[in-house]
Amino acid sequence: MRESELRNLLDDLSVEEKVGQLFQLSGSFLVDNAVITGSWDNQELSEQELAVTGSVLSISGAGEIKRIQEECMSRQPHHIPALFMLDIINGYHTIFPISLAQGATFEPELAQRGAEIAAKEGAAAGLHVTFSPMADLVRDARWGRVMESTGEDPYLNSCFSAAMVRGYQGNDVREKGRLAACVKHFAGYGAPEGGRDYDNVELSERTLREAYLPAYEAAIKAGAKLVMTSFNSLNGIPASANKKLMRNVLRQEMNFDGVLISDYDAVGELLNHGIAEDGKAAAKLAIEAGVDIEMVSQHYLRHMSELMERGEVPVELLDQAVWRVLKLKNSLGLFENPYKDADEEAEKQIVLCREHREMARETARKSFVLLENKEEILPLRAETGKKIAFIGPYADSQEICGSWSFPPKDSGVVSIKKGMMEKNPAAAMCFHEGCYILRQDWCLKNGEQLVFNEDKAKHLMAEAVNAARGADTVVLCLGEHYQQSGEGASRTVLQIPEEQKKLLREVTKVNSNIVTLVFTGRPLELEEEANLSKAVMIVWFPGTESGGAIADVLLGEKEPGGRLPMSFPYRAAQMPLYYNRFRTGRPSEDGAIGSFRTGYVDQVDKALYPFGSGIGYTRFQYGSIWITRQVLTGGQPILAFCMVTNVGKRAGTETVQLYLADLHASVIRPVRQLRGFQKITLAPGESCEVVFEIREEMLRFWDSEMNYVSEPGQCMVFIGHDSTAENSAQFVLE
Ligand code: GLC
Repeated sequence: MRESELRNLLDDLSVEEKVGQLFQLSGSFLVDNAVITGSWDNQELSEQELAVTGSVLSISGAGEIKRIQEECMSRQPHHIPALFMLDIINGYHTIFPISLAQGATFEPELAQRGAEIAAKEGAAAGLHVTFSPMADLVRDARWGRVMESTGEDPYLNSCFSAAMVRGYQGNDVREKGRLAACVKHFAGYGAPEGGRDYDNVELSERTLREAYLPAYEAAIKAGAKLVMTSFNSLNGIPASANKKLMRNVLRQEMNFDGVLISDYDAVGELLNHGIAEDGKAAAKLAIEAGVDIEMVSQHYLRHMSELMERGEVPVELLDQAVWRVLKLKNSLGLFENPYKDADEEAEKQIVLCREHREMARETARKSFVLLENKEEILPLRAETGKKIAFIGPYADSQEICGSWSFPPKDSGVVSIKKGMMEKNPAAAMCFHEGCYILRQDWCLKNGEQLVFNEDKAKHLMAEAVNAARGADTVVLCLGEHYQQSGEGASRTVLQIPEEQKKLLREVTKVNSNIVTLVFTGRPLELEEEANLSKAVMIVWFPGTESGGAIADVLLGEKEPGGRLPMSFPYRAAQMPLYYNRFRTGRPSEDGAIGSFRTGYVDQVDKALYPFGSGIGYTRFQYGSIWITRQVLTGGQPILAFCMVTNVGKRAGTETVQLYLADLHASVIRPVRQLRGFQKITLAPGESCEVVFEIREEMLRFWDSEMNYVSEPGQCMVFIGHDSTAENSAQFVLE
């Protein structure tokens, strides 16, 4: 529709119709199989309110959406099509590794291709918008939603959030196979006090801008059509009522002119926050802050007309919000084709097709992070006769898609057993559950009670220990329950569940050739596992093709490609834990225990496994760094060269990382910051000269007056394997 026609449509709308465009109905009101993603769901709607509804949450399926779209348009007085939105976070039905795993690939292009596939499947299933990318920076593994992020680094997160937007939206969301992206949760949701979900966030302006805002801004610069408000308050004001954050920072500074949607009932939660006495006050605060669509709660629906009539809210605010919603619908081409890509036949062909599964499998392999590989026990040598015992609750489980995955029942998620049997049917392998994943005292967040039978537990353990005794190698398949991470899943104990640690201890008493695979949505304490195993590999929650990807890597056809996007601690008590921390006046030497130094007297103050770490099946050597000039000036970048050699026995891929450190500035600066990475693949003995550009803007920060500047002085460049790399060179910023 031409903009002039759209403007005429807006002018034609009644206040009730305008308000309806700003209301998002929970799909559970219309169908029984809608995913419920929020706590509040007591929707009561009049026929008139239902008739003017502008968008629907959490319904999918081409046939279902076409039917509901037809109903919506027939009821809507101007027959305006509804928007259909869903959390397509780890893919639609072809489930990819969780976002934290995708961050571990250090390959944004891979996440872009994954987002393209998710969009193709979601669009064929009738959807228009996905609530992704989640661009929240995270530093505290107690928070369950770290699994949805791409980690603790602003630069890495920015690369991924922009890539995902490009993948979902392409050059034009009207095109077939494209979805509008909604970047979330604006802002600072990843920094709740104590790692407790939904808790308050207190961030200095500098930390907010330097660490937490960049990835949202990168997604917006990449063209994200929507932004979602976060549940948390930021420095005392809940996001959905935070004018400064939404109108000054988001709209003016970041130049965002798309749709701002609240999180699920976040407008209603302004009453719980205590900053709105009633629904009318909540609606006023939210529309003044710039929230366009209210998700599920109905305060706009119930109070906006009255606020308009009484002149308590200027009608312009309503019109501006409705205009943005109508423009979004128009950009999707819904006025010409309200069903967009919804096509039952195409859905059958596209969803879970071989090509998509292959992509999911490749992404999974590249996300696995091998932390230990003593005696090069991996890859497994599956010589004939050598017995491999796969032991643990994940040895043959299909519950290996992360939170926010909604794979259909028949999607054929590939377990480790299935993957291994398909790849190596002749191998002497056995598979034993070994123990329950959790004891019954764990009530999962969906209220599911786990059954626990003491006798069965004893039998499982005895059987597994017996199998371990007779095996040449044991592959322990352990980890969190997938519902122990995700929304509403903050934990104080960051460990593999105790039942499984018992299994680990019993099995390692009878066999020392242990490979431990860890399914997890977050960093965990893994010192005991590392001491009792020869190999430890983080597989996260790999999705539909888990078993195939794990088989590819265990048997050596491919190597594990991941590097940690979050620091793994010795202890949960170290949280928040992140590599790019500010300097202090009493730095400890490499975190060593020492009184009167920054750190602890009972724990080394560093990560057990640092950001950026992980190994493959070969080894790399770094030469010294050579830089083209010792002085960096504003206009002219410095080039930094470093020779990297594969000194191992097989080809492999290394993620070469570039860090910069500003040694002196008017405010304290991080000990180092990731400013570049390159993945190189080298044959045995092959060398490659990796080149990075160092530009003045990489050294900018917010000074004491909150100006975004760089300052002259000594700097260091590090090029190496991870965030502890010592390979460095000095230069001066003029
Ligand atoms: C949830 C989540 C948000 C999600 C929304 C819609 O509560 O916080 O990430 O997109 O509701 O399902």
